[in-house]
Amino acid sequence: MKRLLGSGEVKSNVRDQYRRLLVQCTEHFEYEEKLMEQTHYPHLARHKSDHRLHLKEGRRLLKQMEDAPRRSARSGYESWRGWFAAHVVAEDLAFGLFLHSDR
Ligand SMILES: [Fe+2]
Repeated sequence: MKRLLGSGEVKSNVRDQYRRLLVQCTEHFEYEEKLMEQTHYPHLARHKSDHRLHLKEGRRLLKQMEDAPRRSARSGYESWRGWFAAHVVAEDLAFGLFLHSDR
């Protein structure tokens, strides 16, 4: 098992899944931002900027995985995932409340 987890095939698979996750994340952000524009969300600029930073960091992590495939990207990924969870709880929830408010 340990040998399997350290194999190039598994690492390549993780990279592919990470790449897909980045694409889905980009699409989700675009959808969210379009909805914010349509509803005139007052914090759109800040939210968009937060998304851009997250995608930039995600692309940096992917490049790191591609440039140094033998190096573990676990800590970077954990940090990236942690940001996403915090963003959903703080920022996306605020937008959800805005959407359901009387405005
Ligand atoms: Fe968001």
